[in-house]
Amino acid sequence: MPDSSVSTTRAGEITERRERVERRIRDLLDRMTLDEKVGQLNQVNGHDGGVTDELAHRVRAGEVGSILNEVDVRTVNELQRIAVEESRLGIPLLVGRDVIHGFRTILPIPLGQAATWDPELVRRGARMSALEAAGHGVRWTFAPMVDIGRDPRWGRVAECLGEDPHLAGALASAMVQGFQGEDLADPGSLAACAKHFAGYGAGEAGRDYNTTNIPEGELRSVHLPPFRAALGAGVATFMASFSDLNGIPASANRFLMTQVLREEWGFDGFVVSDWESIPQLCIHGLTADDREAGLAAATAGVDMDMVGEVYADHLAELVVEGALHEALVDVMVARVLRVKLRLGLFERPYTEPERFPVEPPPSHFALAYDAAVRSAVLLKNDEGLLPLAMDGIGSIAVIGPLAQEPQEQLGTWVFDGDPGFSITPLEAIGVLAAEGVHGPTGPVKVRYVRGLETTRSEDRWGLPEVVEAAGAADVALLFLGEESVLSGEGHCRSDISLPGAQEALIRAVRATGTPVVLVVMAGRPLALEAVLDKVDALLFAWHPGTMAGPALADLLFGRAAPSGRLPMTFPRVTGQVPIYHAHRNTGRPPTPETFVHMRDLPRGASQFSAGAASYHLDTHYTPLFPFGFGLTYTTFAYSDLQVTPARMATDGEVRVSVTLENTGERDGVEVVQLYVRDPVASVTRPVRELKGFRRVALEAGARRTVTFPLPAAALAFPGRDMQPVVEPGEIQVWVGGDAHTALGAAFEIVAP
Ligand code: GLC
Repeated sequence: MPDSSVSTTRAGEITERRERVERRIRDLLDRMTLDEKVGQLNQVNGHDGGVTDELAHRVRAGEVGSILNEVDVRTVNELQRIAVEESRLGIPLLVGRDVIHGFRTILPIPLGQAATWDPELVRRGARMSALEAAGHGVRWTFAPMVDIGRDPRWGRVAECLGEDPHLAGALASAMVQGFQGEDLADPGSLAACAKHFAGYGAGEAGRDYNTTNIPEGELRSVHLPPFRAALGAGVATFMASFSDLNGIPASANRFLMTQVLREEWGFDGFVVSDWESIPQLCIHGLTADDREAGLAAATAGVDMDMVGEVYADHLAELVVEGALHEALVDVMVARVLRVKLRLGLFERPYTEPERFPVEPPPSHFALAYDAAVRSAVLLKNDEGLLPLAMDGIGSIAVIGPLAQEPQEQLGTWVFDGDPGFSITPLEAIGVLAAEGVHGPTGPVKVRYVRGLETTRSEDRWGLPEVVEAAGAADVALLFLGEESVLSGEGHCRSDISLPGAQEALIRAVRATGTPVVLVVMAGRPLALEAVLDKVDALLFAWHPGTMAGPALADLLFGRAAPSGRLPMTFPRVTGQVPIYHAHRNTGRPPTPETFVHMRDLPRGASQFSAGAASYHLDTHYTPLFPFGFGLTYTTFAYSDLQVTPARMATDGEVRVSVTLENTGERDGVEVVQLYVRDPVASVTRPVRELKGFRRVALEAGARRTVTFPLPAAALAFPGRDMQPVVEPGEIQVWVGGDAHTALGAAFEIVAP
């Protein structure tokens, strides 16, 4: 059958399937009582393995549409049995869980996965996570979190996909595809949930749940695009943010939940509130009581109440009183039923655990290893210290509180992660030293000194032993950073330097003269300027997950090469935050000519002695490491940047090509990045915007031409009327290995 008729048949099947779903929705709605409708909009918390009489009663009475945090498959099936076989209409439950970066096998935190710049790897990781979770009765995950994170003080940057809308959008789409699979009705597929809609990452001072003031233009050009990309990938649900957006909290924000999501984007799934975010409308000061909160949230477009019990308590009475139209409740219920029908829950409500492996198969650990290897970012490597050349190393000192922490290496949001599967860096290095890695005098001797009780410890009683071990070794490998509890929801830091006495430990090791490799595990970018000149090599590993040990050991000893690139800009000091690549220029951008550090100001200097430009007197105005930056064990050169054609119409396309050469001695992977700037526009535009990227593997000495299509639509931005516009004029482009790349060219957009 010719392709066109196959695609026609396929399209016909999809249409028929969708029409069948809509017929079933209408049939159910016609038979549902008002209370049963409200029940579908009510999500309750599970009891970790138990079916209480109260929960059984509520399910049987049709008062519950969804349960979260129940992952005992027998309990899930029993609750499902009550819903399907004992409630009047037999509507199955939807069981949700935060399956954020793995389930029992844990992948790097999402920010670490973002550092891979590898959508296919991210998709595979989400698929693996879905299969492990589905075996426990989960069919809905509250992921991907697609909030743009530009303030590393915020604990939840750990869960986000970085500072850039283009990168975050590509990775969010990949996660949705992984979680939802080819077919949402596949028993191993989970409904995904784009969260937290919207602007949550812009909380003032990097404090979680804090106020956000985001002009609509910024909302539409920075914070909304990744959500739109997730929708483009077919995301089944959205979650409303806790945060107050310009005075109207997201959970009652009609502009977000109805105008953008429904009217502009045509989303037909459902929106769930965040945990009790509906009753929190009273705490925000938007509503006087739960009844008002329920009315505000429902009329704004939030369909399901996550454990707030507000819809359960007040929605029916609001309808009876005439304050809320039952037709709106019907629309809300239809959205929930639509997702349940698309998941195939009516046909297959019960989880068949025998369909799923009891224990994670080796392929899951192999994937977790790959993800951990590709997420690590090499930030410094003086004299090519890494990979460690074993012919000169007889002994290694492994130092630090994160070298042997099976749980900590998993990071935040690991409800179901099993630390029993973890292989730690110390274990992996020990295996390498015992098995394969030999120095000049035979197997490498490894000595471990924890040095500090935790990453937060101020006690320095362990430092003398650290110094003694480092001084006696040929190389010191430090495993420092943040325990997992220092990032994640509600865990923000006002100072993002290394906590506790870790900087002191680094200084003490430096003083021994032994070469120092610093491996950092953390849930956010850290301010590392104070220690950068005290280490010879720096590998930033995020929280790498279950296979942290083998991945880091192989990277350190050269069995693998680092290929991670920063998904967030790294500040020198906390005071630079927020600092990110896609900033606007200001009227007085800092330059080498205008910048004067305060230490260089003459005595009695006046306010006019420093250049009048946008910088701090006590810190250089550049980041410590730019967005997109990362080293590897070879070097790459870019040349012959070309843009064809030189002029394009406002609906045209140019192709940007560059020659990439591996100029080093080892094979390697480069992440080629395409940035643009619209230097003159009706509203000011960022000085750099990422518009394309590609991981390119090249053998030593090889060259390749890399080409990016750049359609005019990719250059659209919200004009003064908030409508997307492509304006004629010059467009500058750069291609290189990070946001500061200098290899540039330009082309012209011409008016039609
Ligand atoms: C939380 C989080 C949200 C999560 C939900 C369920 O408070 O903000 O991301 O999915 O509760 O655990």
